Amino acid sequence: MKVTVVGAGAVGASCAEYIAIKDFAAEVVLIDIKEGFAEGKAMDLMQCASLNGFDTKITGTTNDYTKTAGSDVAVITSGIPRKPGMTREELIGINAGIVKMVSENLLKHSPNVILIVVSNPMDTMAYLAHKATGLPKNRVIGMGGALDSARFKYRLSEAVGCPASDIDGMVIGGHSDVGMVPLIGQATRNSVRVSEFLTEERMSEVVEATKVGGATLTGLLGTSAWYAPGAAVSSMVQAIAQDSQKMFPCSALLDGEYGLSDLSIGVPCILGKNGIEKIVEISLTDAEKAKLQESAAGVKKTNALLEGVIA
Ligand code: LAC
Repeated sequence: MKVTVVGAGAVGASCAEYIAIKDFAAEVVLIDIKEGFAEGKAMDLMQCASLNGFDTKITGTTNDYTKTAGSDVAVITSGIPRKPGMTREELIGINAGIVKMVSENLLKHSPNVILIVVSNPMDTMAYLAHKATGLPKNRVIGMGGALDSARFKYRLSEAVGCPASDIDGMVIGGHSDVGMVPLIGQATRNSVRVSEFLTEERMSEVVEATKVGGATLTGLLGTSAWYAPGAAVSSMVQAIAQDSQKMFPCSALLDGEYGLSDLSIGVPCILGKNGIEKIVEISLTDAEKAKLQESAAGVKKTNALLEGVIA
């Protein structure tokens, strides 16, 4: 498998590093607009090959999309990250033009590519990538839920006092501070509901901490996070590479599922060699359904800002 990672910044480089360490792809191409930057990151990562024991070949290029030709999967991380105090939605003005151009360039050189969009505001950028490329909905996937769910599991493990590997849980809805819907009622510790271990109040705190997970890190780091975003997206690429039929909450273009249409938003999806193999419609409580609808209304409001960018 050949994977292109667009944007050699912290998230892109971290994604390339995890893909290499997991050693499932033949080749990773890092591409960036900053002269020599992707080449440098690729060289630095390749100097880890003998140390970390991987055979994935990582190369870098400055904006030469011919080098991405024949990619099976492309991860789009390009654009600007948020600064402390900013919402993901505030990035749309700059990032929309970049994501549109990048998606078109990728498709030109890799007609069979599956796109994974990470750039923010992610759900709107995934929707834009669909509109810009006309790709079928299984081939444009937004990465948000896998990351938000990992952050949810981290917060749950902290609250319960157990390793995160003991916890199972999922966050659906939009990848935004207000739009995330952590499914606390369905979260478990080794198949026992977390409500057996936590008070209502503690569960509410976990939900709130999860929703602002990215903003908390932006406040601490001065820019947006990269390790967990990189790990989350690399797991999705791996599921596609290995046709594993693993389920992740992904931002998928909906066409009636969950009573929603004409937007990309986080819902459980099965990933395999065709990208999104299936959107899974799980049972939600009335409260969860209402939160998902509210989240969708927020995403649609942000999508409306694309007027003029998409035909
Ligand atoms: C975050 C960015 C990747 O949540 O949206 O850290």
